Amino acid sequence: MKCRVCRGPAVIDVRRHNANFCGEHFLRHCREQVARAIKGHQMLEAGDRVLVAVSGGKDSLAVWDILVELGYEADGLYLGLGIDGYSPESERFARAFAESRGLSLEVVDLPTDYGYDIRGAARSAKRVPCSACGLSKRHLFDEAAERGGYDALATGHNLDDEAAVLLGNVLRWQGEYLGRQQPVLHAGDGFPRKVKPLVRLGEREMAAYCVLRGIDYMVEECPMALGNKHIGYKEALNSIEERSPGSKHAFYFGFLDRAADLFVPGDDDRSPIRACVRCGSPAGAEVCAFCHLLERAGGHLPSNGRDVPVRLGRPISEAR
Ligand code: AMP
Ligand code: FES
Ligand code: ZN
Ligand code: ZN
Repeated sequence: MKCRVCRGPAVIDVRRHNANFCGEHFLRHCREQVARAIKGHQMLEAGDRVLVAVSGGKDSLAVWDILVELGYEADGLYLGLGIDGYSPESERFARAFAESRGLSLEVVDLPTDYGYDIRGAARSAKRVPCSACGLSKRHLFDEAAERGGYDALATGHNLDDEAAVLLGNVLRWQGEYLGRQQPVLHAGDGFPRKVKPLVRLGEREMAAYCVLRGIDYMVEECPMALGNKHIGYKEALNSIEERSPGSKHAFYFGFLDRAADLFVPGDDDRSPIRACVRCGSPAGAEVCAFCHLLERAGGHLPSNGRDVPVRLGRPISEAR
């Protein structure tokens, strides 16, 4: 197996591209794919300040590393979800990476800063954990990006993630979700721009990227996500991809090129009509969904000497 670029010994094959690469040229391939996604979908401009949501897993650490390599000013944000046996370990990986590269990482911890955790919130709100988790993440990622004045918030969603979500949405023809399934969501109404620079790279490539770059990452998946529908969709797509390499790419990018415009995003928390009276963040009602979740979970807005978060130009303390 020879590297497509230099004909030296290859360390990885990327069947989707019908190509093998040596370590050096594989790393270059990953950076090129990210640069291409950024340019093609107008995710970022030179000089943008980016906040990268890092979970301690391979994808988010890799996207942080690549954005820095590409010259962006990128800081990290880690959100501690209070999941025993999972959150403390994943936080250690995120901190170790930031320290090893001299990068700045903000840590927001749900139990310490907001007085609740995902398990408790899911139980009291009668939601599945991933739903309470997704709601909390969306709110706190947006909040941190706005507060820090970043140009964009980046996540580590890769091609496997996006294709699996797309399959789930198509199976049920969830038009309002399909209308929002874009690699970039533009800023507006108090929301930051959100970008997914890894959409051209798969899970296996990101694991190889981390190994070749010496990045230690949390391998275990969240224990509460076990049995999650997306895992089944990923398995189904993997078995199709195995027989027909390139299917995932064709499915996802074919959707973006030929079908995404047919769907209109539904009214959701990205169509706010006012500022939440409690936290000041954009909301579709008087009180935002996050503050409702906080209330049910017995949590509180930060009041323990951390910087007062500001949304829509109003400090939380004034909004209350
Ligand atoms: P997931 O929702 O676990 O599929 O993760 C998707 C992306 O969300 C990751 O690639 C990260 O960018 C981000 N993310 C997930 N969990 C966290 C976390 N605890 N803290 C910060 N970012 C996270
Ligand atoms: Fe969200 Fe596990 S990471 S429920
Ligand atoms: Zn090579
Ligand atoms: Zn609120």
